[in-house]
Amino acid sequence: MTNDDLNDPAFIANPHPTYAGWRADDPVRRVRLTTGEDAWMVTGYREARAALAEDRLSKAPRDVASYTEADLATNRHMLASDPPDHTRLRKLVTAAFTHRRIEAMRPRIVAIADGLLDEMTGDGPVDLIGAYAFPLPVQVICELLGIPVSDRDSFRTWSAAIVAGADATGEVIGPGLQDTVEGLTAYLKDLVALRRVSPGDDLLSALVRVRDREDRLSDNELTSMAFLLLVAGHETTMGLISNGTFVLLEDREHWERLRADRGLLPNAVEEFLRYESSVETSTGRVAVEDFVFAGHQVRKGDLVMVGLLAANRDPAQFEAPDVLSFERTRNQHLAFGHGIHHCLGAPLARLEAVIAFDRLLARFPEMRLAAAPGDLPWRSSAIIRGLQRLPVLLR
Ligand code: HEM
Repeated sequence: MTNDDLNDPAFIANPHPTYAGWRADDPVRRVRLTTGEDAWMVTGYREARAALAEDRLSKAPRDVASYTEADLATNRHMLASDPPDHTRLRKLVTAAFTHRRIEAMRPRIVAIADGLLDEMTGDGPVDLIGAYAFPLPVQVICELLGIPVSDRDSFRTWSAAIVAGADATGEVIGPGLQDTVEGLTAYLKDLVALRRVSPGDDLLSALVRVRDREDRLSDNELTSMAFLLLVAGHETTMGLISNGTFVLLEDREHWERLRADRGLLPNAVEEFLRYESSVETSTGRVAVEDFVFAGHQVRKGDLVMVGLLAANRDPAQFEAPDVLSFERTRNQHLAFGHGIHHCLGAPLARLEAVIAFDRLLARFPEMRLAAAPGDLPWRSSAIIRGLQRLPVLLR
């Protein structure tokens, strides 16, 4: 295997065989990322869990001194922080992601899913991503945050550009993204100002109250938090819905099985998360000191990428890892990460996905792929694994 593999279209379409080869050879190895940077790539399950729990691997930005005002307004969030900042920031929103609060969203998510399915008509191919998998999570997160409906289209454009352009550590910096980031930041700042004078019962209004009355959050942390929730919450969920639909339709037996027994859905969603994780590698971490990791000398400043997709197919952890099985028990996949940065939105993502598949199977039981599976284009992002388009025939 050469380091150029990460740019290879065959790798982008199906990285699993390459990861399997790397993992068998050494679960931690050097690779050159598509950005040109050298990094450690972790492909073993045990090693990935250890890396995610390793406090000598930091998520704090490396080069804050060079940040512009817009960079600061978007990179001061919990996923770009270590304790104690991380602990403080995460605590502020944890209360908003309680089981009860998420469960209360259920009727709204059903209504949003049904509304989108109502608009899908015709005999020709429909792009399931554009029509369903993408707008569903956007509408849910916008509702949770209190983003006005009229602004949601701009949101989708901004967010898609940002995820496409984020670097290996997940930091959104760099000239290519400047306009997008500045546009979104200016928008979020205006919205914060609006919520100051006319608060609602949404999450952003709650965060503004915390900022103003209790002073536990800076202005940049507030905009960054809103920014993170928007960006983290929807390309990922979109990937779960579209990758899941793809694997169901690729082998129709799976689709029919779920149609016949929708009680399998919660298990199926866990299996989609494991089998074709929408987050391919966790956002990178940087070593804060020299240490030996899985037999390798890691130096201070080294970049470490944790391959969640690869870890989730490790035969040392999962029996028959390349088989999609709704009966799998002990499915402790790493699709939502692990340790202090474990996905805050996991309960919401799970609920959205179960509803999305439930409504889709009920509404379009005859749905099928409108192209050969091998012809579908995959995205080349280092962080997100997902299709660019998913053309389907509805009946
Ligand atoms: C963190 C995956 C949906 C909010 C993470 C991480 C992963 C992940 C792997 C850890 C990244 C790392 O350690 O480098 C996913 C997947 C999702 C999903 C696969 C959907 C299928 C959501 C949703 C939200 C959300 C719906 C919010 C509405 C967050 C936040 C963090 C995070 C705030 C940072 C937590 C922290 O730093 O403490 N997610 N996510 N995610 N996710 Fe998700």
